[in-house]
Amino acid sequence: MMCFLLSVIKVYWESLDKNLTSRVKSYTSRLLSSLEFISTNLTISHEEARKFSDHRYLINHQWKCDNEDVLLLLFVKSSPENYERRQAIRSTWGNEAYIQKNFGVTVRVLFALGMDPQPLNLKKVQHRLFREDEIYQDLIQQDFFDTFHNLTIKLLLQLTWTHTYCNHAHFIMSADDDIFVHMPNLIRYLQGINRANIKDFWIGKVHRGAPPNRNKKSKYYVSYEMYPWSVYPDYTPGAGYVVSKDVASKVYRASLTLNASLYIDDVFMGICANAMGISPQEHAFFSGEGRAPNHACIYNQMMTSHGHVKDFHELWRLATDPEVQRFSTGFFGKLYCTLAKIRLLCTVSFSFTYPCKAAFL
Ligand SMILES: *[C@@H]1O[C@H](CO)[C@@H](O)[C@H](O)[C@H]1NC(C)=O
Ligand SMILES: *[C@@H]1O[C@H](CO)[C@@H](O)[C@H](O)[C@H]1NC(C)=O
Ligand SMILES: *[C@@H]1O[C@H](CO)[C@@H](O)[C@H](O)[C@H]1NC(C)=O
Ligand SMILES: *[C@@H]1O[C@H](CO)[C@@H](O)[C@H](O)[C@H]1NC(C)=O
Repeated sequence: MMCFLLSVIKVYWESLDKNLTSRVKSYTSRLLSSLEFISTNLTISHEEARKFSDHRYLINHQWKCDNEDVLLLLFVKSSPENYERRQAIRSTWGNEAYIQKNFGVTVRVLFALGMDPQPLNLKKVQHRLFREDEIYQDLIQQDFFDTFHNLTIKLLLQLTWTHTYCNHAHFIMSADDDIFVHMPNLIRYLQGINRANIKDFWIGKVHRGAPPNRNKKSKYYVSYEMYPWSVYPDYTPGAGYVVSKDVASKVYRASLTLNASLYIDDVFMGICANAMGISPQEHAFFSGEGRAPNHACIYNQMMTSHGHVKDFHELWRLATDPEVQRFSTGFFGKLYCTLAKIRLLCTVSFSFTYPCKAAFL
C-alpha cells in the first residue's frame, strides 16, 4: 500500500516537475533576452574596465595547472585570517593528493585572497601568509583589501587567473571557505558531464528574478545609482557553483567590458553570463545559504552544504565511508531514504537547503 502510494506520488511529482521546469525555462529565456539592456548599460571602455582587475599578485603559482589533465580547478574564497578553515579544507575535501589517489582525477584547489584590511595587522598577517604558502603552495593573493565590498575584485582575480594560467581545466568552481563539498559525488557527476561534452554548463542553486536589496542597513544593500533596475539576472549564490571552461572564458571576456563596481560578486557573475546569453541550471543538491540536515541519506547525494568548519572532518569521514554509501541501496534502503528525505526536506525548517523535490531524486 505504502509503495503504491509512493510511486503514485513519484510519478505525479515528476510530471509536475517537468511542467514546472519547462515553464521556468521559457520564463528564463524570456527574462534573459529582456535583460540585455543591463549589460549594455554597464558597458564601459576596456581601459576603464581593466582598472577593476589590474591588481598586482603578492603570491602566485603560475605552474600550478601545468601539463595536467585538470578535471576541476576549485577556487576557495578565503580571507587572510582564516588559516584554520584552510587547514580543515586541505585535510578533507580539498586534499588534492587523496583525490588523485582514490578517484584517479586531477583537481586543483587554490585559495583566493586579498590583503588584510587592518593596517595594524597587515604586516604580521602577511608574514604568516608567506610562511603558510611556503609549506602548501596553494595561495593566490593580489594587493586589494580583502573585504566584503571587494568580493567582485576577488571574482575578477579568479577569472583572470583561470584565463591566464589554467584555461584547459574542464570545470571551474568557486566556493566559500565555510562550505562542505562532497568531492566524491561532485567528481562522479562532473565526469559524466565531461563525457557528454556539454557546453554552456553552469550549475548551482539558482536565484531566479531576485530583486536588489534596498535596505540601507543590510550587508547586501545596493543603491539605485549602482543598480537602478528592479531585478537581477538569474545567478547562483557564491557559496558554491561550477562552470565549464567555455563558460569561464565567456564570462571572463564579458568582464573585460563591464563596470564591476557592483560588489555583490555572484550577481556580477550573473550579469556577465547574461551578457553572453548563458543562464544557470539548478541542481537540487547544491545549497545556497543553507546547511544540509544531518542524515546519511542526505550525505549520499549532497554536493555542497553551507555553514560548516568545525565538522569538516566528521562530514568527510561520512562522505568517504563505503558503509554510508551502501546504506541507501537496495529496495528497502531506497524506500527508507525517500521517507527520511521527505521528512527532512519537505518541512519548513530546512527550506533554505535543498528543495523538497530532492527527496524524490
Ligand atoms: C503537465 O502538463 C500536461 C500538458 O502540458 C498536463 O496534461 C498534465 O496534467 C500536467 N501535469 C501536472 C501534474 O500538472
Ligand atoms: C544607464 O541607465 C541609467 C539609469 O537608467 C541612465 O541614467 C544612464 O544614462 C544609462 N547609461 C547608459 C550608458 O546607457
Ligand atoms: C578594495 O580594495 C581597494 C584596493 O586595495 C581599496 O582601495 C578599497 O578601499 C577596497 N574597498 C573596500 C570596500 O574595502
Ligand atoms: C561604474 O558605476 C559606478 C556606479 O555604480 C559609477 O559611479 C562609475 O562612474 C562607473 N564607472 C564608469 C567607468 O563608468
